[in-house]
Order: sequence, then C-alpha cells, then structure tokens
Amino acid sequence: MAGSLAILSLMVWLSSCLPPSQASKLPNTCFGPIDWDNCPDSPLLQCATYKVPLDYARPGIGNATLGLARLPASKSPRLGTIFLNPGGPGGSGVADIKAIASAVTVLTNGQYDVVGWDPRGFNQTVPNLTCGFESVQERQDFFNGTVINDGIEVRGNFTGKNDLESFFSTLTQTDAILERFGQKCAEGNPFLKYLGTTAVARDIVSMSDCLDGPDKPVNYYGISYGSVIGTYLVNMFPKRVGRVIIDGIVDAIGWATEPSFKLIPSVFGDAEATLAGFTNLCVQAGPSNCSFATKGSTGASLLREITDLIDIAYDKHKAGRTNITSFEIRSDVYNGLTLPTTWDASLVPQLVSIRNNLLRSTSTTLSTKRFRSRNVLFQQTSTPVDPVLPAFLGGSVIPCLDSIDQPNVTTKDVYDEVVHTSQTVSPLFGEAILGILFFSNCHRFPVRAVERFTGPFNSTLANPILIIGNKADPRTPISNARKIAAALGPFARLLEQDGFGHTSLAENSDCTLGMIRRYLLTGELPEIGEVCAVNQALFPPNGTTLAPPS
Ligand SMILES: *[C@@H]1O[C@H](CO)[C@@H](O)[C@H](O)[C@H]1NC(C)=O
Ligand SMILES: *[C@@H]1O[C@H](CO)[C@@H](O)[C@H](O)[C@H]1NC(C)=O
Ligand SMILES: *[C@@H]1O[C@H](CO)[C@@H](O)[C@H](O)[C@H]1NC(C)=O
Ligand SMILES: *[C@@H]1O[C@H](CO)[C@@H](O)[C@H](O)[C@H]1NC(C)=O
Ligand SMILES: *[C@@H]1O[C@H](CO)[C@@H](O)[C@H](O)[C@H]1NC(C)=O
Ligand SMILES: *[C@@H]1O[C@H](CO)[C@@H](O)[C@H](O)[C@H]1NC(C)=O
Ligand SMILES: *[C@@H]1O[C@H](CO)[C@@H](O)[C@H](O)[C@H]1NC(C)=O
Ligand SMILES: *[C@@H]1O[C@H](CO)[C@@H](O)[C@H](O)[C@H]1NC(C)=O
Ligand SMILES: *[C@@H]1O[C@H](CO)[C@@H](O)[C@H](O)[C@H]1NC(C)=O
Ligand SMILES: *[C@@H]1O[C@H](CO)[C@@H](O)[C@H](O)[C@H]1NC(C)=O
Repeated sequence: MAGSLAILSLMVWLSSCLPPSQASKLPNTCFGPIDWDNCPDSPLLQCATYKVPLDYARPGIGNATLGLARLPASKSPRLGTIFLNPGGPGGSGVADIKAIASAVTVLTNGQYDVVGWDPRGFNQTVPNLTCGFESVQERQDFFNGTVINDGIEVRGNFTGKNDLESFFSTLTQTDAILERFGQKCAEGNPFLKYLGTTAVARDIVSMSDCLDGPDKPVNYYGISYGSVIGTYLVNMFPKRVGRVIIDGIVDAIGWATEPSFKLIPSVFGDAEATLAGFTNLCVQAGPSNCSFATKGSTGASLLREITDLIDIAYDKHKAGRTNITSFEIRSDVYNGLTLPTTWDASLVPQLVSIRNNLLRSTSTTLSTKRFRSRNVLFQQTSTPVDPVLPAFLGGSVIPCLDSIDQPNVTTKDVYDEVVHTSQTVSPLFGEAILGILFFSNCHRFPVRAVERFTGPFNSTLANPILIIGNKADPRTPISNARKIAAALGPFARLLEQDGFGHTSLAENSDCTLGMIRRYLLTGELPEIGEVCAVNQALFPPNGTTLAPPS
C-alpha cells in the first residue's frame, strides 16, 4: 500500500513538473533545504541563500545562488508560500519584500509566507549580470555620442523629412554600438546563457518544492516584467498553478515568439491616453492645485502646450539657445506618467520649469538628469546604491536571452519600427525607446539562453489566475492584458482598473485590493468584465502606492 502510494505520488510529481513542450527529462526539484536566518537589517524577516543548477538539463556543471527573504505567515491556517517579483527585469525581490512586507501581509491576511527573491543575474545572486560596467558613468561613456545616450531630436512625430534623414544617418553607428554592447556583455561572462525567464520560472518551482512540497500548488504575484515570469510559469507548469496574480502586463507571447523589435509598439499603446488623463485631471484640479494649468486651460490645450514645448525645445536646441532637448522632455514626461501619486510633486513642477525655461527669451539651461527614474515598480523600495544600472542591463539583456533567433532582423527594421510607432501609436513618446534599449538590440545580441520557452500560452491550468491591467498604463497597455487573458481562456480572469499609471498599484483602489485579497484567501475571482474604480486623490496626492484595503 505504502509502496503503491509512493509510486503514485512519484508519477504525479513527474507529470506535474514537466512542461508539456519538454515532456521529458528536466529535473525540477528541491535542491537541498533552505536554511533561514534572521535578516541582519530587518527583524521581522528571514533571509537565506539557495543553490539551483545553472542549467536544469545539466545539473552537474554548476550552481547559481539566489538570495531570498521571507516574511513568515503569522496566522493560521497557513495557506502556503507566495513568491513576489517586482519586475524590471533587474528588480530585487529581496529589497522589495523588505519595503512592502507589511502592506502585502494585509493582502494575505498574514496567512501566506511571503517570499521575495533576487532572480538569477541580479543583486547578490551568483552569477551576476554586469556587462563589465561598474557604474552608470561607465555605461554612459560607452554609449557616449550615440542615440542610446543622446536620444534623437524630432519635431512632431517625424513630420519633417530632415528629421527622418538625420535619424537614419545614425543607423550605421547604432548598429555598431549595439553589436559592441552585446560583445561586451558576453565577454568574460560564460554564465550569461544561464540567465533568463525560463530558468527563473524553474527556480520558482524549485523553491516552492522546498518550501511547500514537491506536488503542492505554486503561488506567485508578479508585476510588470514579473508578468512575463508569471506567464511563463503557469504555462510551463500548468498543473502546479495555485494562486497566481499578474499585474501590469507585458506581451509575454510576443516576447517569446517574435523578433523583439516588434514589441516596441506594444510598450506605448496607452502612453498618450495616460498623458490625456494627466492633463484632464490637472485642469479639473485647477491652477491652485495643479500649477501647470492656467485660468481657462482645457485638457486639450495642455496637451497642445506639451507638444509645442517639445517643438520649441527642438528649435531652440538646434539654434544653440537651450540645452534642453526635445528628447529629454519626451523621456521625462513619459517616465513621469508612470506614477500618478508623484504627478503633483514631480511631473507638474518639471513641466512648469521646462515651460518657464523655454519661453524665456534668453538662452536656457535645465538641470534634469536623464535615466533618473527607475523602471518604477513597487514604489516604497529602499533606495539601492545604483538602481539605474540593473534596470538598464535587465531591460537590454534579459529580453534578448529569452528571444527567438533573429538572423534576418536588421537595425533598419528597428529604426522603421520606431518611426512607425511614433507616427501611428505614440507621436509624443515613441521616439524615447532608443534611450532604454528595450527590444531594440536583440538582433545584435550574441547570446541566447540555454533553454527558451516559446509556448504554448493556452495551457490548461490547475487553477485560474488573476490578470490585472490599468486602463491607461504608459508602459503596459491594457491590450497586452487582454491578449494574455484571451490566450488562457477560462483559466484566467481579467480585472481592469479604471485608473492611470504603471500597474494597478500606481493608484489606490480599495476595489482592486479587495479582489486581490479575496482571490488569495478564497480563490474567488472577480466577475467577468469587472472594472474597479480607483479612490486616489491626485492633486495634491493623499494616498500611498500600496495602501491596505479599508
Ligand atoms: C550544487 O549545489 C548542490 C546543493 O548545495 C550541491 O549538492 C552540488 O554539489 C552543487 N553542484 C555543483 C556542480 O557545485
Ligand atoms: C559579479 O561577479 C563577479 C565574479 O563572477 C565578481 O567579480 C563581481 O564582483 C560581481 N559583481 C557584483 C556587482 O556583484
Ligand atoms: C562624449 O562625446 C562628446 C562629443 O560627442 C565629447 O565632447 C566628450 O568628450 C565625450 N565624453 C566622453 C567621456 O568620452
Ligand atoms: C485643492 O486642494 C485643496 C486641499 O486638498 C482642496 O481643499 C480644494 O478643494 C482643491 N481645489 C480644487 C479646485 O480641487
Ligand atoms: C544644462 O546646462 C546647465 C548649466 O550649464 C547644466 O547644469 C545642466 O546640467 C544642463 N542640463 C542638461 C539637461 O544638459
Ligand atoms: C541586495 O541584496 C541585499 C542582501 O540580500 C539587500 O540588503 C539589498 O537591499 C539588495 N539591494 C538591492 C539594490 O536590491
Ligand atoms: C532568413 O532569410 C533567409 C533567406 O531569405 C530565409 O531562407 C530564412 O527562412 C529566413 N529566416 C528566418 C528565421 O526568417
Ligand atoms: C503625426 O503628425 C501628423 C502631422 O502633424 C499628423 O497629421 C498626425 O495626426 C500625427 N499622427 C498621430 C498618430 O498623431
Ligand atoms: C492552444 O493553441 C494552439 C495553437 O493556437 C492550438 O492548436 C491548441 O489547440 C490550443 N490548445 C488548447 C488546449 O486550447
Ligand atoms: C484619498 O482621497 C479619496 C477621495 O478622493 C478618499 O476616498 C481616500 O480615502 C483618501 N485616502 C487617504 C489615504 O486619505
């Protein structure tokens, strides 16, 4: 009896662990106990390191070491472990769990162990991803004088023939620097091919095997790029799916199956709609609470004004009368849209200062730093030493490691897509993509991961997952959420939040937080077609990014 039970559970383990596309051999299991210790800097949390195979298909060749931090459940019944990923790629789950543990506890009612971990490649994991850069300065020097650093000067949405010509005149140089960047990352880093999202999905299952047991449901909550991890995870391990939430959805299907540059438009789909939300709410708040508005402003007039400021910067910069570039305004406004609770204190004064500077007749200077904003995720994150470098490296390397081969893609294809995105999807912001390299360099990246998941993305899941999208998210448009949800059919439920900013956490919605909490505690999903309103006053801000539900 006992023997047959053991065989049965072994069979369950085998069939549940193997992704259908690899219905063979890869071992996924717990590789030894995870020994928790108190975290030196956070009394409530436990820390650990955990070794996983560099390559699950060849466990003998070496290990990667992950960093973990856990907030143990405080109430019974304990419902299991939930793994958190803050996105990036490049975000540190360890740092983020330290920052948001107490807020997450409210969502889990203290009934889950909440685990944040540093995905292979980042923070204190081994191997790490540095591409040989030790500082942001080194990275800037490397790209000095190229469109990656300097951006491109464009009037309107590439309306002028001159702008198109001058953009395309940089093509050869860009092509060369993209190639050199790839070589630099690969050089002296034989471990690069062991990073990437497919391995990360296996790591989650392996950690879950250790912490909850080899045949137990895997629970996961990932935002932004964390939604790519989540989409891979549930489709690679459909029988292991427990409670899984993804929020701020990236097109993981395109990520895994299309040449990367084709995803450029998918970044900007709702960027202009978010800006329209900003200008409308600013006008509603009025000049006393949103000083970018003036008496008689309308949402449309403010939009026009921002468009005009970009063109004025373009003209004055060309004439040597300002050091503010149109590219900087585009990047800064685009980054500023990410988090509405900072519009009042950050985006508004920035726009006012740009306006004051540019409309002044003398020559103007502005001290704004590009790349200032991190790929903003869980906002309360403790300030890391240098957040910019991992965010840059994550965004420019991980999509490439995950990507299909792209033998026929050229840098001209990328340029055409940038112009196309600017002319048809986002005239104000489509030009800004080159500054962050996301999706624009993978055809020139020489390394791919040893294992790359390419689907299916319509797997039959053991439990339905919860997909959340903001209606106007400047980085991850709602169309991505609808696409991933449609692929999963009955195994996903889409919750739309009627708000602005990147991920639903960008604004407080008691409704959304209540849905998340109910799903985590009972498995109950929102109704089909459910839309959550936000309750977040923005001018001035009164909320927190991840407020406990009331
Ligand atoms: C990887 O780590 C495991 C568990 O700590 C250990 O048993 C194994 O020997 C390591 N493998 C290599 C190749 O170092
Ligand atoms: C990355 O790993 C290399 C060795 O693999 C080490 O020399 C270097 O210090 C590490 N860098 C960081 C930032 O941890
Ligand atoms: C960057 O390029 C500019 C000209 O494009 C040059 O003046 C400057 O010295 C360069 N800086 C570095 C660090 O190479
Ligand atoms: C501006 O903000 C103050 C303080 O929150 C508030 O009392 C006032 O009603 C707001 N004004 C407008 C026009 O919204
Ligand atoms: C513009 O010039 C000023 C003064 O020379 C400098 O402090 C500032 O950093 C520059 N700003 C930009 C965006 O280059
Ligand atoms: C990196 O990991 C260390 C130790 O695990 C943690 O204290 C720190 O906050 C992390 N740093 C970043 C930038 O994520
Ligand atoms: C690349 O182009 C060659 C020649 O045109 C063609 O045979 C091949 O199928 C293409 N490969 C891909 C992946 O599109
Ligand atoms: C691009 O600019 C042209 C000319 O100003 C304009 O007609 C067109 O509507 C713009 N495209 C978009 C998508 O806004
Ligand atoms: C998943 O999609 C593929 C390709 O679109 C299709 O052939 C297959 O039938 C689908 N599987 C399920 C379970 O819906
Ligand atoms: C913020 O304001 C909204 C109404 O605009 C209110 O419902 C909400 O409770 C407030 N939140 C906080 C934290 O004060």
